[in-house]
Amino acid sequence: MEKPQLCLVVLVVLAACWPAVSPLPNGAPLSSCGSMAPKHLGATPQTGPPPYSIMIKNYTDKVEVTVMGTSYTGILLEARYPNQTDAIGSWAQPPTNTKKIACFNKMDSAITHSNTHMKTNVTYTWISPCSKNDTIIFLATVAKSKAVYWVKLASDPVRVTCSGSAINLHGFAALVVLIISAVAVL
Ligand SMILES: *[C@@H]1O[C@H](CO)[C@@H](O)[C@H](O)[C@H]1NC(C)=O
Ligand SMILES: *[C@@H]1O[C@H](CO)[C@@H](O)[C@H](O)[C@H]1NC(C)=O
Ligand SMILES: *[C@@H]1O[C@H](CO)[C@@H](O)[C@H](O)[C@H]1NC(C)=O
Ligand SMILES: *[C@@H]1O[C@H](CO)[C@@H](O)[C@H](O)[C@H]1NC(C)=O
Repeated sequence: MEKPQLCLVVLVVLAACWPAVSPLPNGAPLSSCGSMAPKHLGATPQTGPPPYSIMIKNYTDKVEVTVMGTSYTGILLEARYPNQTDAIGSWAQPPTNTKKIACFNKMDSAITHSNTHMKTNVTYTWISPCSKNDTIIFLATVAKSKAVYWVKLASDPVRVTCSGSAINLHGFAALVVLIISAVAVL
């Protein structure tokens, strides 16, 4: 009986130490989507000037978002309407060492890290829902390490204009498929 008990003690100690040793190596949990605050025990957000800035390049329905500055290990990235609490739109194929998560039960609505490798000047691509032309901002919580992180860094507001509607794009794609089919038949 001694060994199982010892194992249990070791497991409990490991579990207690885990967050301190290797915090959230697989990315921010869904419970962080709203506050964007990491659940790092015993650490408080930095208040000084961040070594990161969120640069944006706008296109019609896509925005390229680059977290510029020194390297970081952890990130949580969302697009929102100013002063709103929900993430909007979706993220395209996540760059290496990052992944998409379903914040607010919306698929691919946020990006987070998938490991604690260093990331530098990584660019993420956001796709507008194109339901309306509106101003949005990008918010990022960026962690340099477990103890050193900045919460909800904001980009400049960007006005997304969706030129063609999604329906037109689908119509175009359908047309291309039709033409290809027609050629195949001939
Ligand atoms: C968002 O809130 C800030 C301060 O709370 C305010 O100054 C700003 O005008 C608001 N922006 C929008 C778009 O409502
Ligand atoms: C990231 O971008 C900044 C600003 O342009 C640049 O000074 C820095 O060298 C870049 N870092 C890397 C690793 O490319
Ligand atoms: C967005 O703006 C563009 C250009 O002004 C316009 O053609 C388009 O219809 C608008 N889309 C919506 C959903 O309002
Ligand atoms: C969006 O892109 C247009 C054209 O590339 C540019 O003139 C405009 O300044 C950009 N707006 C923002 C907020 O970056």
